[in-house]
This record gives sequence, C-alpha cells and structure tokens, in this order.
Amino acid sequence: MDGSGLPTSFEATPNNLEPFWMGFTWNREFKKNPKLIVGAEGMMYHTHDGREVLDGTAGLWCANAGHARKPIVEAIQAQAARLDYAPTFQLGHPLAFQLSAQLTQMSPFGEYDHVFYGNSGSEAVDSALKIALAYHRARGEAQRTRLIGRERGYHGVGFGGISVGGMVNNRRRFAELPGVDHLPHTYNLEHQAYSRGQPEWGAHLADELERLCALHGGETIAAVIVEPVAGSTGVLPPPKGYLKRLREICDKHGILLIFDEVISGFGRLGSAFAAEKFDIKPDLIALAKGITNATVPMGAVLAREGIYEAFMEDSERGGGTIELFHGYTYSAHPLACAAALATLEVYKTEGLFQRAAELAPAWENAVHGLKGTRNVIDLRNMGLMAGIELEPRPGKPAQRAYEAFTRAWEKGLLTRVTGDIIALSPPLILEEKQIDFIFQTLKDVLEEID
Ligand SMILES: Cc1ncc(COP(=O)(O)O)c(C=O)c1O
Repeated sequence: MDGSGLPTSFEATPNNLEPFWMGFTWNREFKKNPKLIVGAEGMMYHTHDGREVLDGTAGLWCANAGHARKPIVEAIQAQAARLDYAPTFQLGHPLAFQLSAQLTQMSPFGEYDHVFYGNSGSEAVDSALKIALAYHRARGEAQRTRLIGRERGYHGVGFGGISVGGMVNNRRRFAELPGVDHLPHTYNLEHQAYSRGQPEWGAHLADELERLCALHGGETIAAVIVEPVAGSTGVLPPPKGYLKRLREICDKHGILLIFDEVISGFGRLGSAFAAEKFDIKPDLIALAKGITNATVPMGAVLAREGIYEAFMEDSERGGGTIELFHGYTYSAHPLACAAALATLEVYKTEGLFQRAAELAPAWENAVHGLKGTRNVIDLRNMGLMAGIELEPRPGKPAQRAYEAFTRAWEKGLLTRVTGDIIALSPPLILEEKQIDFIFQTLKDVLEEID
C-alpha cells in the first residue's frame, strides 16, 4: 500500500487468490492449484508459469477470430481516446447506428431490421423475452404471458434466462419466473449415438409444443426460446426437421420463436448465423460473445421486420415519448461498438465463416476418430463444435471429465467440461495441424485416466 488504499503491486500468490468469488467454478480446488492466464495471441493462451496452451474453446465460445487481434485492439484503443462513453437513452453516438446498419445488413435472409443492445448473452436473452412479451401487449394480445424454454437449454443467468433455461443446478437454488414451461430436450443416446452432425431421430419431439399449446392454450404463449444447437449442456445438434417443425407450430399459434444464437452466431457453424444454416426464420435472435470477439462485453437482439413497427404504432396511438421501457446504461457502449465493427471486418476480410465451413469435415472426422477411446460413450459435432461424452464414474458425476480437463491443460490444451462431457469450440482461425494436436492430446488424456 502507498497510502492511497490501493495495492501497489499484485503477486499471484495463493493467499491473494482468495477474495475473488469465482462463478461456475470449484473455488476450493482452483485456489489450491490455480490455472492462471496472463496473455493471449491468436490460438494460444500464455499461463503464469510460462506455458503456452492451445485454446480449444475460443475462451468461452467467444473469441472466434482468435486472441489479441491487432485491428480489433487498435479500434478499441482509438475509440477509448475519442469517445469513452455516451448514453444511448434519448441520445446517441455514430458507431451505434453504424453497427446496427451492418448487423441488419448481414442478418439472416436480410429480414431483421432492428437491433437492441445489452452487455452479455444473459442480457440479450432477457431483452428478447421482454421484447416478446411487450410486442404482444402492443398488438392487443396482453394475455400472451407464458414463455416456453427447453430442458437442457442454457440462456444465461438472469431471472428470465434461468427460468426458460433447463439446467437443473442453475435453477434449483433460485426463484423462477411464473408461467414458464419447457419442451423436452432432444438428446437420446440410444437413438442418436455417434451421429455425425444432425441426428436423424427426434424431429417428433417438437410436437411436444402442440401438447403445451393444448395444455395452456396456445393463445397464452408469448414465445418459445431455444438454442439452435444446445452448447453449454454438451453440444446437442438439433434432430433433422426439428427446428422447422417448431417454427410451423409457433406460426400456427401466433407464438414468437426466439433463437438464442449467443454461441451459434458469428461463424461457429460455418455460416453467419444458425438461422441460415438451418433455413429457419426466428422472430428474435439473441447474440453476444463473437459479436466483439469477446474483447468488450456486448449482447444484442436482432428483431425481424414488423416487431419494432408494432412498438412504434402502439406508442403513436398512446402518444408516448418512449416506446420500449427497457435499456442498459451500457447499451451500445462506444468501445463495444468499435470492437464489434472491427470484429465484423476481420470476419469478412479473412473469410472466417467460410473457413469454419471448410474445416468442418476435417473436424468431424477428427472428432469421430475418438470412437473406441477409453470411457467415450458418444461423440457429437456441428460446424466447429464438438461434444465428447464420457461414461461417468459411478457415484462421482463430472469428476472424470474434470480430471480430463486438468490433464489436457497440463499438456497444453484448453477444453471445457460440462458434467461428464468435454466440449470444444476453437477459434475459427484454427489450422489442420492444430486439429491433430487437439484430438491426439485428448486421446492421450482419455487413455491415461481411469
Ligand atoms: C446459448 C447461451 N445463451 C446465453 C448465454 C449467457 O451469456 P453470458 O454469459 O454472456 O451472459 C450463454 C453463455 O454461455 C450461452 O451459451
């Protein structure tokens, strides 16, 4: 301390690791044996003990263009010096409009004409749910208050997101919103094991939405939200025909369909958005993560034509000065907008979405090359995503995968685990020889552990 009350230096000793209460973390284990990241470049992370670790997860499914990309870094630096912050309530700044124009231009089928901003995937999801509820009210259908999510869905950690989400541990300790129901998840080991890409079996599971409409009254349902490919619960590609069926049932009952593309957006599946990949037009699309290549937090909601207009018309009738009573201090933050614009430029000039599509077959072969490896019971892939499902240790769920994660880290590979599933989602700048490294390392790790 130097009298200011602030520490003059920081040393990464176990003692001062204590005050940070880490989310979604086994804090006690981490603080005994910390995995600290002190730098990053391209595909690599640099650790505090001087090692290089290949980032097999693009951070948390977010650094799609790789780390510390110069054009993005420079754009953020320049923007911080020019305009650090400006409110976007009854005021604006140019980059917010420029980014919105670009996002709508690149939106699926060119049919999304407005963008709303938050600072994270959770905020994008909660914003989309609120927009859906308010949209119906604006059109005189205030009875549509029910929200439908799906088991094994992850939609962030806001109260809206956890309510429609379907991960038990993220829900059971907290209160949930009333009026929420869930579709069944689409995964079935018996019928789908070792599917390459989308499984053949399971489209009929979308018909459960008809059952929920019959149960609650379709006219009381505001929106259905799904991840096109469930990511955080272990990479579950949608069965063939499933999303199309969901869209049809939503249309039949006047229900809005929301795609949570926080992971699948910005090239992860080899196209800009999953909506295009699966040829489905959701009404609202939640985005985050890859939008700024994870450099500055940002979330966004793309709204399909007609949604924004419904708010304008309703407000016109009521004579109001604010059409949507929702927004964040940092909505469309200048640094995030600068980062996003530079990121979109990198994606475009380097053809990264196309690159992901071109690498996907080699990736798929490498993923399925793990078939027969010790403890592996299923392998799943889609674009540059993979899920490797392990047989759990009896009575000790998630421990085998956690050990695999730690061993891989020690061998220079960052993976992510969820339950007993190892998930992979590397930056889209990945090279073929790095695919070999990822899967050889995993094979070695899996053969080593019990
Ligand atoms: C599909 C999906 N939605 C929402 C979120 C929440 O995003 P954030 O952690 O930025 O709030 C995530 C995060 O992983 C996600 O995968």
